[in-house]
This record gives sequence, structure tokens and C-alpha cells, in this order.
Amino acid sequence: MDSYNKLYINGDWITPAKGGTFETIDPSDESVITRVAAATAEDVDLAVKSARNAFDDGSWSGLSGKERAVYLRKIAEGIRERIDHLAALEVKDNGKPLPEAVWDIEDTAGTFDMYADLAEELDDNNSTAVALGDDRFSCEVIKEPAGVAAAIIPWNFPVLMASWKVAPALAAGCTIVLKPSEVTPLTAMELADIIDKAGVPAGVFNLVTGMGPDAGAPLSEHPLVDKIAFTGSVPTGSRIMQAAARDLKNVSLELGGKSPFIIFDDANIDEAVEWILFGIFWNKGEVCSATSRVLIQDGIYDQLMARLEEETRKITIGNGMQDGVLMGPLVNASQYEKVTAMIAQGVQEGATLLCGGQRPDGFDKGYYLQPTIFVDVPDDSTVWTEEIFGPVVCIRKFSDEAEAVQLSNDSRFGLAGAVMSKDIDRCNRVARKLRAGIIWINCSQPTFSEAPWGGYKHSGIGRELGVWGLNNYLETKQITAFNSDEPWGWYIK
Ligand code: NAI
Ligand code: MG
Repeated sequence: MDSYNKLYINGDWITPAKGGTFETIDPSDESVITRVAAATAEDVDLAVKSARNAFDDGSWSGLSGKERAVYLRKIAEGIRERIDHLAALEVKDNGKPLPEAVWDIEDTAGTFDMYADLAEELDDNNSTAVALGDDRFSCEVIKEPAGVAAAIIPWNFPVLMASWKVAPALAAGCTIVLKPSEVTPLTAMELADIIDKAGVPAGVFNLVTGMGPDAGAPLSEHPLVDKIAFTGSVPTGSRIMQAAARDLKNVSLELGGKSPFIIFDDANIDEAVEWILFGIFWNKGEVCSATSRVLIQDGIYDQLMARLEEETRKITIGNGMQDGVLMGPLVNASQYEKVTAMIAQGVQEGATLLCGGQRPDGFDKGYYLQPTIFVDVPDDSTVWTEEIFGPVVCIRKFSDEAEAVQLSNDSRFGLAGAVMSKDIDRCNRVARKLRAGIIWINCSQPTFSEAPWGGYKHSGIGRELGVWGLNNYLETKQITAFNSDEPWGWYIK
């Protein structure tokens, strides 16, 4: 695509009603990449009505799963054909290192392929007989598409987060309106072009770029939307749920986290260091499931911390397009200010800054920040309890399993958790005690599109990915038949 100043609605690229645009920034040098179409309520209304018409006319919902799968595979193919361009665009708009962006794009294509498989399976598995307590009746349960879906997504994994919602919605037979983050809109716009070229019927997929209050809010309030899927911050998730309550829309929310990583005495030091680093510094720590609270058992603490500090200081920071860079800039100025303000607050609240916390030398432009480690972090300090969403890890010592579990669960969040020990029984026991939706044993972060993703408590509602993600976009219908030769005999005796 060579310009990004239009919205994709009802199969066409159109100028926003008010003609507005906004800038998207390259966080590596703070330059403007391009101007992007800014949707307002009028455009959102048009997009939702297009999706409503396309749903109601059956041009998509009326296809078999196998027919929809053909389109989903074409979309996956279109993504793979543009992988170099999409990955470079993601680096430019978000700042992440290129290998991580390539990973995102491969996963995005993989998500469409997996949902193509699940769409095909829908055809075969879509009728379940249910035995009723009365043999005069038979009952069949079927799944049907939920209707018009709205997807509102964040900036940390821009096109991948789009695929986690668009692919299952399309597989289920829903039509959809996607609102990407205003911070990183470009790859979602490329995805719209790929979906268009795959021949998906007009109105089935629609894209509105724009600000949260101007485009996201009217989308979450629109009466013709049946289902809302949101990933982002807790306050915005709560606002969307309130808007959805008015029309009793179905809502799924994937929100923040403050996930613990428990390391027991018997862990291998280098493996522990590797997964602690990956758990907090990949994608610059802008990861909802980041294991940002690390709990280390006292017997291994000094040795592990020495290695962790040594390896952290070696992390190469720079423009994500440069070879060997492991950490790019934070996504934008406001995220940089938020993270650095929280670091200052951590110091004020009595946590010890072991390393990092500063802009690295040699960068006068760009939102670069050193990888940061806090130790001896008070358990009531903001840096211990609140999501920082940046490359900042908080570390505490513990002495026994019960204490580690108690400290881990003492959080309003419950997205993920990780545990490391050579004693696999202990890992499995702790995995069951942690109140969170995703638990990693002897690792942190690897994510597979086949497995359910989502959190407990303030981390959200519902699960994405796998068959759980597909079910988000399906309604369940019972069809019950009276088969008896004997009359019912209530009124007419
Ligand atoms: P946000 O939650 O406000 O934005 C996410 C999406 O919601 C964007 O597309 C935005 O335009 C939209 N939005 C904003 N206000 C809306 C409204 N009133 N109605 C409907 N949609 C609305 O997150 P933001 O401002 O980009 O980042 C703020 C903080 O959120 C970060 O510092 C981080 O802590 C957290 N965050 C968490 C993410 C996660 O994956 N759990 C992802 C991104 C941010
Ligand atoms: Mg940007």
C-alpha cells in the first residue's frame, strides 16, 4: 500500500466522512512515518451497517466452514507473500527487533491457517445429539455464528492481535469491524488489503483506524454489534464492558497482568537467567503476559542475581532493523514517560535499582530505555503491584513454596505465571495453586495458537485462541422435537 489515508468499509477504501488524519510515529527516531485515516462515529456507523448487511444476507454466514476455510488459507498465503514488508513495517511502527516482527507475522499467517482447519471441522462437528430425560423428545445442539463482531486491539503485537480476533470471527461465519491501535495502525491496513485481494465478500471485514474516543467508543456502543473482543488496558476494558452492557453484547476482554515467575533453589542458573530475560525483555517488556515479578528462593539468590545482572548489561539496544539488536525503543513518548515515571516512583517507594532505569548512551532521539532490574521490592509498592508494560523486572527473595505461592497470588491480576524447578511434581503442584489462566513450567512466554489464552481476575474475561477462541464467535442453539404418537394432552384431553 502506498497511502494510508482511507478506511476499508464494505469492500472499498473510502475517505473518512470528516476527512481527518493522524500521524503515526517511528519510535526509533521520533519521525512521522505517514498520516492515517481518522474515523469518527459516522464512519463507524457505516462500517457496522456494512458488516450487519453482509451478515444478514448470508453471503458469509451462509457458506460452509469448508468454503470459508478456502478464504482463510488465501489470507494466510497473502500474509506470507508480504512477510518481509509486513515485518519491516511492524518494526517501523512499533520499534520491536526484526526477528521478533518476523515471528509475529509467521504466527499471524499460522493463526489464519489454524482457524481454516477449525472452520472445516465445524461442518462435521456441528450437530450434537443430547439425551433428554423424556424419550418422547429428541434434541440436537448446533453452533451458529454470533453475528457482527467488533475487535479493538492494542499496539504491542499489532497485526498478530488482529489475527487472534479476525481469524476466529471469519472462521465462525461472523462479519467484523476491526479498530487497530492509533499508535500502530499500518500492518492492520495491509491486512485489510490482503483480505480484500483474497476475495472476501464486501462488508464481511471492515477496518476503521482512529482514536479510542472517536472510533473505538462509537464501535463499542453501536447497537448493531453483537460481540466485542478487546485487548488492552484495564480502564479501557472496563469502559468497553460498560458500553456493551447497554445492549447486552457478548464481551471478551484480554487485559493487563503482573505475572509472577517462581524460581526454586534447584533450578539451573543459566536456564533461569535465560527465561527471566526472555520473560521480561522480549518485545521491550510491552507484553501483557510478561513475567514482571520474579521470586527467587534464598539458596540460589546471590548466584542467580550476579549472572542475571551480568547478562542484562550485555543486552544490545538499538533500532530494530539493525542486526543483533535485542531491544528496540518503547512504542511512543507517552509509554516512555509512563515507564520512566514508574521507575522513579519505585525508587521513591524503597525498591533498590540494581541496573538500568536510564536512557542508554549514544541515543539522542528515540524512546530508548535500558533494561531495568529492581531488587528488594516492597510488596506494597506500585512497581510490585501495578503493570509497568516496559522493560522493568521486580525481584524478591522467598524461602518456601507456600510463601512463593502466597506472594504470587497476592495481585489483582491473574493472566499468567511461571515456575522453574527440577522437581516436576513441585512444578505441577504450584501450577495448580497459581490463580492465573496461563502457566509456564521451566520457561516463560512461548505462546501457541492451539492453546487457550486469557486471564483470571482483572486480567480479563474469556479465552482466545484454539477452539476456545472460535467459541467466542459462535452461538449455541438447541433444536428440540416432539416425536411421540401419543398427544400431549394438556388442553385437549
Ligand atoms: P488502551 O487500552 O487505551 O488502548 C487499546 C485500544 O483501545 C486502542 O485501539 C485504543 O484506541 C482503544 N480505545 C481507547 N479508548 C477507548 C474507548 N473509550 N472505547 C473504545 N476503545 C478505546 O491502551 P493504550 O492507551 O494504548 O496504552 C495504555 C496502557 O495500557 C499501557 O501503558 C499498558 O499498561 C496497557 N496496555 C495493555 C495491553 C495488553 O495487551 N494487555 C496492550 C496495550 C496497552
Ligand atoms: Mg507508531
